[in-house]
Amino acid sequence: MPLLMDSQMIIHTSFIFLFFWFSNPIKNTVSQPSSTHCPLEFKNLTTVLNSTCEEGTWNDFLLDKCCKEPFNIYLDALAARANQTGRIFLNSTEQTSCLNKIKNNITDVFSCGIDKLTITSGVKGCSGFLVQDVLNKLGDEVIGLSTGCGLFDRREGSCEKCVKSWNEIRGIEAGDDADLCRFAVLTSLTTSRIDDLIWAQNIRRCLGNVTNGNEIH
Ligand SMILES: *[C@@H]1O[C@H](CO)[C@@H](O)[C@H](O)[C@H]1NC(C)=O
Ligand SMILES: *[C@@H]1O[C@H](CO)[C@@H](O)[C@H](O)[C@H]1NC(C)=O
Ligand SMILES: *[C@@H]1O[C@H](CO)[C@@H](O)[C@H](O)[C@H]1NC(C)=O
Ligand SMILES: *[C@@H]1O[C@H](CO)[C@@H](O)[C@H](O)[C@H]1NC(C)=O
Ligand SMILES: *[C@@H]1O[C@H](CO)[C@@H](O)[C@H](O)[C@H]1NC(C)=O
Ligand SMILES: *[C@@H]1O[C@H](CO)[C@@H](O)[C@H](O)[C@H]1NC(C)=O
Repeated sequence: MPLLMDSQMIIHTSFIFLFFWFSNPIKNTVSQPSSTHCPLEFKNLTTVLNSTCEEGTWNDFLLDKCCKEPFNIYLDALAARANQTGRIFLNSTEQTSCLNKIKNNITDVFSCGIDKLTITSGVKGCSGFLVQDVLNKLGDEVIGLSTGCGLFDRREGSCEKCVKSWNEIRGIEAGDDADLCRFAVLTSLTTSRIDDLIWAQNIRRCLGNVTNGNEIH
């Protein structure tokens, strides 16, 4: 009997040894492609990993309603980085790396449409904008959104006014992607009130819940 135990133990130990021997090189090879690290720091990631599907799709910007929770956390992280660096959107490799971090088993974040908010070289419009570019070129829109959605910090804001100022953001010239410009303006505005959680929460409750141009409650 003790002999049997011993040999079982040996088999067991060798198995564990072999497992680590083989799995380490595999792990290393697999993790290599995402060598560009994600420059965003996600807060409350556990809520995303455990998220529930919510109505509202940022006026159909998001392709699935289950995308909203990961996206809101993504927006927070964009604003936090913009506060530190002045940069707004990510480039494509950074984007892939960041979406990998917020993917969960409920939503395929790669199918949400978030990757539309990527810096695309050679494209006009707002994709490559820094916060300073937004303030210089879309200053009226920043003031418009700030006025339209501004009272949310006191729970007095009207969602209708906020949605109106959101829809008025179109870009600088014809052909600009309105969504890229809207999120650039929103991020530039959020970045200056990064600690105002109530405002951030209410603006999402309003704009995030817009469908087909109408707010839903
Ligand atoms: C993070 O989660 C905690 C607890 O769930 C919550 O109180 C807090 O408001 C959240 N923070 C943000 C930025 O959403
Ligand atoms: C996930 O949700 C379940 C049920 O709502 C809860 O019991 C659990 O603590 C949550 N896990 C995390 C990591 O938040
Ligand atoms: C994106 O930016 C990172 C630096 O953060 C850089 O290493 C990478 O080459 C860039 N990727 C593209 C596609 O421009
Ligand atoms: C997601 O995955 C975790 C861990 O693998 C599991 O505990 C959880 O039940 C899963 N949630 C859903 C909604 O499938
Ligand atoms: C960054 O956020 C702080 C509040 O935490 C704010 O006072 C500051 O003006 C912001 N900086 C920029 C460049 O928006
Ligand atoms: C958005 O609207 C739905 C119902 O249409 C509601 O259940 C949900 O709580 C709303 N979300 C927020 C953040 O207010």
